[in-house]
Order: sequence, then C-alpha cells, then structure tokens
Amino acid sequence: MRSLHLLLPLLSASATSAISWIANPFNPAAIPLAVRSPYLSAWLQQGNGAALNDVWPTFWTGQIVGWAGFVKVDGKPFSFLGAPSVPAATFSKAVQLNSTFTSTQSIFVLSAGPVDITVTFLSPVEPTDLVKQSIPFAYMAVSAVSTDGASHSVQVYSDISAEWVSGDNSLEVDWSTTADSVVTHQVQLVSQIPFTEINDHTQYGAAFYSTLSTNNTTFQSGQDVVVRAQFINNGRLTNGQDTNFRAVSNDWPVFGLSHDLGTVGSTLTTPVVFSVGHVRDPALQYIVANDALQTRSLYFWSQFSCTSAVISSFLGDFAGALSRARAFDSKVAADASKISAAYASIVALSIRQALGAIEITLSKNPNGSFNVSDVLVFLKEISSDGNVNTVDVIFPSWPVLLYTNPVLGKYLLEGLFRYQATGQYPNKWSVHDLGASYPNATGHNDGNDEPMPVEESGNMVIMALSYAQKTGDNSQLAQYVALLAQWTQFLIDDSLIPANQISTDDFAGALANQTNLAIKGIIGIGAMAQINELVGGSAAATANYSAIASSYVSQFQTLAASSSGQHLTLSYGDSSSWGLTYNLFADKLLKLNLFPTSIYTMQTAWYKTVANEFGVPLDTRHTYTKSDWQIWTAAIMTDTTARDLFITAESKWAADGLNSAPLSDWYDTLSGQDQGFSARPVVGGHLAQLIV
Ligand SMILES: *[C@@H]1O[C@H](CO)[C@@H](O)[C@H](O)[C@H]1NC(C)=O
Ligand SMILES: *[C@@H]1O[C@H](CO)[C@@H](O)[C@H](O)[C@H]1NC(C)=O
Ligand SMILES: *[C@@H]1O[C@H](CO)[C@@H](O)[C@H](O)[C@H]1NC(C)=O
Ligand SMILES: *[C@@H]1O[C@H](CO)[C@@H](O)[C@H](O)[C@H]1NC(C)=O
Ligand SMILES: *[C@@H]1O[C@H](CO)[C@@H](O)[C@H](O)[C@H]1NC(C)=O
Ligand SMILES: *[C@@H]1O[C@H](CO)[C@@H](O)[C@H](O)[C@H]1NC(C)=O
Ligand SMILES: *[C@@H]1O[C@H](CO)[C@@H](O)[C@H](O)[C@H]1NC(C)=O
Ligand SMILES: *[C@@H]1O[C@H](CO)[C@@H](O)[C@H](O)[C@H]1NC(C)=O
Repeated sequence: MRSLHLLLPLLSASATSAISWIANPFNPAAIPLAVRSPYLSAWLQQGNGAALNDVWPTFWTGQIVGWAGFVKVDGKPFSFLGAPSVPAATFSKAVQLNSTFTSTQSIFVLSAGPVDITVTFLSPVEPTDLVKQSIPFAYMAVSAVSTDGASHSVQVYSDISAEWVSGDNSLEVDWSTTADSVVTHQVQLVSQIPFTEINDHTQYGAAFYSTLSTNNTTFQSGQDVVVRAQFINNGRLTNGQDTNFRAVSNDWPVFGLSHDLGTVGSTLTTPVVFSVGHVRDPALQYIVANDALQTRSLYFWSQFSCTSAVISSFLGDFAGALSRARAFDSKVAADASKISAAYASIVALSIRQALGAIEITLSKNPNGSFNVSDVLVFLKEISSDGNVNTVDVIFPSWPVLLYTNPVLGKYLLEGLFRYQATGQYPNKWSVHDLGASYPNATGHNDGNDEPMPVEESGNMVIMALSYAQKTGDNSQLAQYVALLAQWTQFLIDDSLIPANQISTDDFAGALANQTNLAIKGIIGIGAMAQINELVGGSAAATANYSAIASSYVSQFQTLAASSSGQHLTLSYGDSSSWGLTYNLFADKLLKLNLFPTSIYTMQTAWYKTVANEFGVPLDTRHTYTKSDWQIWTAAIMTDTTARDLFITAESKWAADGLNSAPLSDWYDTLSGQDQGFSARPVVGGHLAQLIV
C-alpha cells in the first residue's frame, strides 16, 4: 500500500502543505530511527509532517538526542538530519521525497540539488541470535545517486551530541576518539552511578558513534557550531579532538564523522555506514535467594571482550545485517498481508518498538566466565511505569515473542518464576513485576507490588502453557508446577466471582465482578489441566481442573450475560455495560475451546454496532480504547467484517497526523488523540493475528 498522508479537516493549511513527500505505507506519529533497548531509543517525531531534517531526533520521552547530518554536493551544503543552526555557515535543507518504514528499517530519500541521498536507519531484529539481538547498536547508512545524468562530488557528514548519555544536560561528560580501521567516538558521564536513571535515560555506561575508516574518512570532536561549520565550509573534518571536558549543554560538544564519496554518478553508491550505540555493564541487578543481588550482563559479552570488538563486528556485518533484515521484513509483510495491507503496516510499525524494550542477559560463573546456561530476558514497561518484567505488559506483548522466537518469552518468564520459587514473595497470587524501577529487578519481598491478583496469576499460567505448546519444551512447566498450581488455586477461589480489583487496564479503575477478568481466570484453570497432564500429574487432578473450568464457564454465561442477550457485560449485573473481551483470545491461542462459539458470534455482532471512527472503546466507562486489545479482539471475531473493522479503524488512528509520540497503545476512539502512553512494548500484541 502506498498513500499520501491522510489529511484531516482540522489540520491547518500550512500543516497540509508541509507534507510533500511520499509516505510508505503512511506517516506515523513517530518513526523509529535507532530503537534497540530501553536506553537506545531514538525517534523522528513526525507528527503531522516533520521531515527528517525539520526537527531533532528524540528519545522516546520526547527529550532531544542530538543527531545531525549534512551532505555537500559540488561544494554546496545541505542538511539531511536534525535541525541544526550553524551561525558561521550557510546551508540549504535537502528536500524529503520519500519516507518508508518496514519492520526493521526506516528509509528516507532526500534531494540535495542534482543528487538524491538515501538514508537508511536499520535497527536489526535478530530474535533467534541472542548475541546479535543483545547488541545495543543501530545503523545509519547513507548512499547517493546523481539525478541529472552528470557526475557530482559528494561528501557526507554526521554527528551525535552528548545528549545520548544522560537525562540531565547540565551534567559533565568526557570523551575520546580512536581512529584505526574503525573511527569511534566514545562519550560518557564523568560521574556514573550504576543502575540509575534520570528522566528514563540511564546514567552509566557510554555512547558510541562509529564508522569504518575508508580513504578520506575524517573526524572531529568539539562545539556543535564549530564542528558542523568545519564540514559545511570545508567538506572534511580536522581529525582534531576537543579535550575541554564539560557539561552536555556547555557549548554542546558533538562527535563528528565524515566521508568523501568522491564522484557520484547515476548508479546508487555503496552506502557509508555509521553505527550508534549505548553500552553499560552490568546491565541489571536481579534478586536471588536470601535477598542477595546478582549482577547480570548483556548476552553479547559472552562473545566479545571489549566494545571496540563489538563495534568492528557490527559495522563489518552491515551487508549481512541488511540482507537478513530484508528477509525478515519480507516474511512479516507476507504473513501480515494475508490479513490486509492496513494490518501489515501496523505490524511493521510495532516490531522494533516491542523488541526495543527488552534486554537479554547472562550471569557469571564463580570464576568470572559467563554462564551461557543462565539466560534471563528483562523488559522495561516504558512510559506507563518503569517497572521490570511487568507480567501484564509481557502478556499483551506475548504475540511478538511467540512469532519471532518463543524462547525469548520463556526467558522473560524465567526470572519471575525463579524469584517466586525462592519463597521471598509473600502473596499467594503471582507478583505484578520484578522491581519498581528498571534496571533494578530487586523483587517485592514486602508483597506491596501493584496488586493485580487474577490478572497476573492467569497471565503466568496462560503464557507458560503457550510457550510449551508452541515449542514442545515442557521443562519450565515441570520445574515450576508447584507455583503454577498455587496460582491456579487462587484462580479457582477468585475468578468466577472476581473481588473488587484492577485489571491490566488499571487507568480505568477497580471494579468487582469484571467479566473479562473472569474469562482470564477460567482460561487459566483450563490451562492448568493441560499443564498438569503435560508434566505427568495425576489424571484425577487433570480431570478436576477441567471440570472446574467447565462448570465455571456454564455459571459465567448466566452471570456475565446482559439482559438483552446481545452482549457480555463489563461487570456482572450491569446489563447496559460492555467491554472488549480480549481475554477470550487466550482460549483460541491455547486451543482449549472452553467458551462456546455462541459467545464469539454474539460479541462479533455486538462490536459492529458500537464502533466509533477510530475504533471500539475499551469499555462503557470511557471512549478511549487500547490498540493491543483491539487487535486481540479482532483475532476472536467470527467474521472478517468485524475483524477488519477493528484493524481499519486502528490503522486510521495510526496515520491520523494528530499525535507525535512513539506509537501509543491508548487513544480516544472519537478524537483519534493519544491518551498518554508511548513506546510501550505492548504493541507486540499487534502480532496477535499472526500466531493463531
Ligand atoms: C519511494 O519508496 C518506494 C518504495 O520503497 C520506491 O518504490 C520509490 O522508488 C521511492 N521513491 C523515490 C523517489 O526514491
Ligand atoms: C537501583 O538501585 C540502586 C541501589 O542499588 C540505586 O542507587 C538506584 O537509584 C536504583 N535505580 C533506580 C532506577 O531506581
Ligand atoms: C585507500 O586507497 C588506496 C588506493 O586506492 C587503497 O589501496 C587502500 O586500500 C585504501 N584504504 C582504505 C582504508 O580504504
Ligand atoms: C580523497 O580525497 C582526495 C582529495 O580530495 C582525492 O584526490 C582522492 O581521490 C580521494 N580518495 C578517495 C578514495 O576518495
Ligand atoms: C569457569 O567455570 C565454568 C563453569 O564451572 C567452566 O565451564 C569453565 O571451564 C571455567 N573457565 C575457566 C577458564 O576456568
Ligand atoms: C549456570 O546457570 C544454571 C542455570 O541457572 C545453573 O543451574 C548452574 O548452576 C550455573 N552454573 C554455575 C557454574 O554457576
Ligand atoms: C458479584 O457478583 C455476584 C454474583 O452475581 C454477587 O453475588 C455479588 O454481590 C457481586 N459483587 C459485587 C461487589 O457487586
Ligand atoms: C478439585 O479441586 C478443588 C480446588 O483445588 C479441591 O477443593 C477439590 O478437593 C478437588 N477435587 C478433587 C476430587 O480432587
């Protein structure tokens, strides 16, 4: 699908005229530029039409991360990235012709006089290669082609600022540059505090900006306006280093790299490639027995001894990474296009964001080597909270893990299981998360985590079985069957008549007798019957779990029906209420078939009658909805009209030009405005259609 930006009547004429490029498949609120980890997260906040060189790239929070780019064509300078102002030099802005996003890449074509440049931002998605997936680096590749039949001399420049290493620009940084077969600028805070954040930026580790050193590669560190003017005026840098270390915002030190492409003709040049990354070690601390903390490192350290080796390998692998990325993009596009082009575009926009919230870690053996048998994956909740491994954030994200590599899901659950198996968590239901503030997975030994008892207990049982079903690996079920049985017992006690409590949609408030929570709990009990069987538990216990689940389903049908018989209620007895019963998706995913087809056909018919312009509300309390739960609900519809109604409305919101934050998952179905969340991994739930 290719379309021009969808313009809404309330946009001003000037906003309308600003959008002059071809957007493929559409202009989203924000385009991922370098999105690999909770701390390497740079976006173009496109809004209703900002080109790559109209605004600065931003961290997911909206704070600027300085990233500039210029080209010179026959001596004439053009900016192509960021919004720099350089008093001592004059330049034009290249004109954006084209922007395209795929699952792994954001590609911009800009015209710089008689030359077009293609700027490719590749954030690799390598879910089955734990070494590559754990490397917190992304690529920017720039190539050029003449458009007038003549040859032109072209030089390319780019820099990053020190804004990549802190959430507080008044803090002091220092830096260094090494120039060998690779030129690397490294910058870090002078005072580093492990495991801390300011404004969601990590406060330790270092940022790296690198390129392969080919002939006529130059570099320079120094004040932004000085380094940029040097390139604009001379087409090359001085190879000079500024050693006057200072605060991020004190004469804004930047770290520039430049290449001379030489003479460019009508064949697109081989790209010059830059890599940007942020590395910290250890990555997290994790609670083990006796309230002790274990430090954990990113998985790639098991293969590399220093960051420069990682960077050489990463830059040297660009061609391979690009070809793997293209294969991945094609597979996702082919799978998702079977639903619709609109669906494929939502999926493509979601994948980097979802996987950009996770980190793959290892512990060390007593002798200091890495224990590659001890993999734990951690996820930052992002934006709604900074919690570690929030169970009800992993749950909506689950489809992207099942689709790309279910083992990542197992490793996400493992840290939760292992902690609760130590006996330090006091509640009889599942914990909500592994720690209030990423990257401290320090547990909740006081039991005062955000209580979502039915939600999280059901989620754990459902996800654990889902992983085993998908892979045939029952080892996690076998190891933690006692915890799974404990949580199921809680579901038996509290899910047919759920007490007053919150669900994952905590912003909507607490409510007793939530129909959708009951669904989750009952599916959890049904799932435990299968788990018990898979781990060789007694046939009597399996039969008992099954019988309880079936009996609850029958009782539920009376409790949860509206008096009109047209829909399920939001909560028992409130006949005019209804909501998205997205938890039924788990019944379909696990192939339990606990709930009768009549419920699905009833819900399918009902949602068609209550859809707004941008989708179906989450429930009758508000007009907002959740994008992840809409796609889950779409996946349980019994006809494609209802399914596509959800997907089309949601793709209309994603392209509506009214928002500028990295893809939200919470928005209003009447206005199309985001409600506050952004960049959350739950958009991995948009892949729900691809796993059933
Ligand atoms: C814009 O992108 C599309 C799809 O990637 C491509 O077919 C087209 O040639 C591009 N246009 C320009 C001007 O490069
Ligand atoms: C993590 O814990 C450390 C103490 O071990 C503390 O200094 C730091 O502030 C905590 N980080 C966050 C993000 O709360
Ligand atoms: C620089 O150019 C020379 C001559 O073309 C070539 O032999 C050499 O390999 C080049 N060096 C690099 C680092 O590309
Ligand atoms: C490097 O720059 C010099 C001077 O501009 C030029 O003569 C030479 O051909 C360039 N080398 C390469 C490999 O581009
Ligand atoms: C370190 O310990 C691990 C696990 O016991 C062992 O496999 C490895 O060989 C040891 N390495 C060295 C260098 O002793
Ligand atoms: C490595 O990790 C595994 C899984 O946690 C553990 O069973 C094993 O004891 C660890 N090995 C060492 C040498 O600590
Ligand atoms: C929940 O539903 C049950 C069954 O209809 C009812 O007995 C109970 O009073 C309800 N609880 C609340 C708080 O409404
Ligand atoms: C079935 O499970 C329930 C809840 O755990 C338990 O109270 C009951 O005794 C079990 N019945 C049988 C026959 O095992």
